[in-house]
Amino acid sequence: MQPTIAADVRFLLEHQAPGGAYLASPSFSQYPFGWLRDGAFIAHALDHVGERESAAAFHGWVARAVMRLEDDVHALIEARAAGAVADHERMLPTRFTPEGHAEPGAGWPDFQLDGYGQWLWSLAEHARGYSLPEDVRAGATLVTQYLAAFWDEPCYDAWEEGRTQHHTATLASVSAGLRAAAGLLDSAPAVVAAAQAAAESAWRFVLERCVVDGCFCKSVRNPAVDASLVWLATPLRLVDDADPIFERTLARVELDLLRPDGLLRFQTDTFYGGGAWLLLSAGLAWHHARAGRRERAAELLALVERQRGGDGGLPEQVPTEGTDPWFLDYWTRRWGPSASPLSWSHAMVVLARCELDGARAGRSRRGSPEHTALR
Ligand code: BGC
Repeated sequence: MQPTIAADVRFLLEHQAPGGAYLASPSFSQYPFGWLRDGAFIAHALDHVGERESAAAFHGWVARAVMRLEDDVHALIEARAAGAVADHERMLPTRFTPEGHAEPGAGWPDFQLDGYGQWLWSLAEHARGYSLPEDVRAGATLVTQYLAAFWDEPCYDAWEEGRTQHHTATLASVSAGLRAAAGLLDSAPAVVAAAQAAAESAWRFVLERCVVDGCFCKSVRNPAVDASLVWLATPLRLVDDADPIFERTLARVELDLLRPDGLLRFQTDTFYGGGAWLLLSAGLAWHHARAGRRERAAELLALVERQRGGDGGLPEQVPTEGTDPWFLDYWTRRWGPSASPLSWSHAMVVLARCELDGARAGRSRRGSPEHTALR
C-alpha cells in the first residue's frame, strides 16, 4: 500500500464510530453524523484495501438503523399502495446519529433517496462471495422494498438541494442499488421481482427524461450537467465508458465544471461560494483510471494532493476560479470554515489510487472483471 493511502485508510478507520458509522467530518460542527451516501463510498474504499471488518460494521450499523424504523417504512409503503401522496416528513432520513438514530429538527433537508441506492450497491459489492448476516439481509430487504415503492418520488439530490425535482444521479443510484439488491436477495422472490422491475423503470425513466441534446442532464427540465453524473459509469456501471451519451456527458462535465483546483459540483453552486470538491476530482480520476486513461487520472490526483492540509487532511472543497466571494463569506460566517478533513474525500482518493495501482499492475485488486482497470 502506498504511504499516502495508508494514512488515508488510517484516517477513515480512526473516525469510524464504535457502532460502525463513518462520521462525515469529525471536526466540522455540522457533520457529526453518518450519511449513507458518504458511508457507502467509504465502505467500498475500505473493502478495496482489505478492511472488510470495518465495512461489515458499517453495513451492520445501517441495517440496524433502518430496522428501527421498520414499522414506519411498512406504513409508508402501504399508504403508497393505497394511493396516498408520500409524506416527505416521514421518509427515511439521509443521515443518522453515530448511535443509529434519525436526527430530526437540525434544519437540514432530509428526504434523499440516492444514499439508499448507493448503500445497496456498496453492500452487494461487499458481499460478493460471502453470505450476508441475517440482520443485514433484513435491513437490505426493507430498503429494497422502500426504493421499489418510492423510486419515482421527487426528492433532494446528492447535494441536498432541489426538493421537487427528479435528479439523474439519484434515479441512477436507485436503479443501480435495486439491480444489485436483486442479485443479493435471491432468497426473497417477490422482493427480487419488485426490485428488478423498479430498477428497469428507473433506468428507462433516465433514458427517456434525463437526456438532453445527447447528454445526461442534471435533472428533469434542467439541461445543465452535474459532476455526480460521472457515477453513472464509475462506480455504478449503468453505462459503458464508451457509451456515446456518457462520453458526451463526460466531455461537458470537464468543459463546464473543471477549474484549476478541481471539479465543481455544478455551475450555479452557492454552498461556500461553489468551490472545487476534492471527492469529485478524485472520483473523476477513478473513472479515467478505470477507463485506461492513466495519465489523466494521475494529473487529477496530483491536483487533489496539492490541497492536502499540513496534517495530511483532505477538505471537502477549496475556493477556485469563479468561486463567489459573497456566498463564501456567508457560509463561513454561518458555519465556520468548510469541512476539513472530510472522510468521503479520503475514500475517493483511496479508490482512485487503488484503480491506478491496479492499472499499473495490469490487474484488479479484487480480481473481479468489474474492477479490471485496463480495457
Ligand atoms: C453534501 C452531501 C454530503 C454531506 C456530508 C453535504 O454538504 O452536499 O453530499 O453527503 O455534506 O458529507
